[in-house]
Amino acid sequence: MQTSTTSKLLVSDIASSVDRVPSSYIRQISDRPNISDVDISGDSIPLIDLQELYGPSRANIIHQFAHACSSYSFFQIKNHGVPEKTIERMMTVAREFFHQPESERVKHYSADTKKTTRLSTSFNVGSEKVSNWRDFLRLHCLPIEDFINEWPSHPVSFREITAEYATSVRALVLILLEAISESLGLEKDRVSNTLGKHGQHMALNNYPPCPQPDLTFGLPGHKDPNLITVLLQDEVSGLQVFKDGKWIAVHPIPNTFIVNMGDQMQVISNDKYKSVLHRAVVNSDKERISIPTFYCPSFDAVVGPQHELLINEEEDSPAIYRSFTYAEYYEKFWDRALATESCIDTFKISKT
Ligand code: OGA
Ligand code: NI
Repeated sequence: MQTSTTSKLLVSDIASSVDRVPSSYIRQISDRPNISDVDISGDSIPLIDLQELYGPSRANIIHQFAHACSSYSFFQIKNHGVPEKTIERMMTVAREFFHQPESERVKHYSADTKKTTRLSTSFNVGSEKVSNWRDFLRLHCLPIEDFINEWPSHPVSFREITAEYATSVRALVLILLEAISESLGLEKDRVSNTLGKHGQHMALNNYPPCPQPDLTFGLPGHKDPNLITVLLQDEVSGLQVFKDGKWIAVHPIPNTFIVNMGDQMQVISNDKYKSVLHRAVVNSDKERISIPTFYCPSFDAVVGPQHELLINEEEDSPAIYRSFTYAEYYEKFWDRALATESCIDTFKISKT
């Protein structure tokens, strides 16, 4: 019996019953994951070893941060301090969550981008024209006690494992923020101090196998609106980063995280560290799971360029961006369909 795909909310429930991509997922020819656009030379983003960060080679590692953040805005980290067991448990419970029966999963479904815990699909079903081959569960997780009771209670270990993971990744982020702050030539707590009470969101992304992966995206090219993203991915490739006019595939390395700069880092650093385009492609035979942690200012925090980083303080308007609250930025981000042009441009100080 042919099941109807139109009544399905989630792409994972469509994927299992189609042998072609439904038309609502098909991109225009000029907007597809064209394989010839992708650099397969094996060059990848830098890998930074955090082992010696608090030892005598700190200066050297900070230098690696400065290079990675200014030239790529994307890097991988190893010896990051998040226990292997914590990572493994998180990945397993995410997989179990998405493999539950549809009736259990859809309890969490919402298209309301303001909800602090919700399962949805694509990017923003309310504003986009073409859908993406992705389902995602989004969670707010700082402070944990404010949100944990809205998180899924199935699988039964979901809350405990996710809380443990979020706490551990947060500790790592605080270390990264100090290193990044120093690499910008700022006091090590400066970046952290611009974030108000701090915010932390997570997504569990599920990219089901796709019968025609060259016609659609898991996530099209975009920049993250937050400060920094720490991404955990399983062993299936899919992430690509835009660098010097080419897309570079970032293949998974076990027990590493991928770190990227988001829009708030670009604003705080006054363009020294840019938010960079990245995207996720899908494939025809394997499901892929990725778990980004989006670290951000709290909604009431006022974000703006740090004065030490202004290129020329004598000039009238050396700051490229005006100050704003993160609430204002975040709302603007979700109101748009996920677009290549960054939302950041609307916060630029006009030069005229
Ligand atoms: C994101 C993202 C990449 C991936 O969720 O913002 O860029 O590989 N994900 O899933
Ligand atoms: Ni992203």
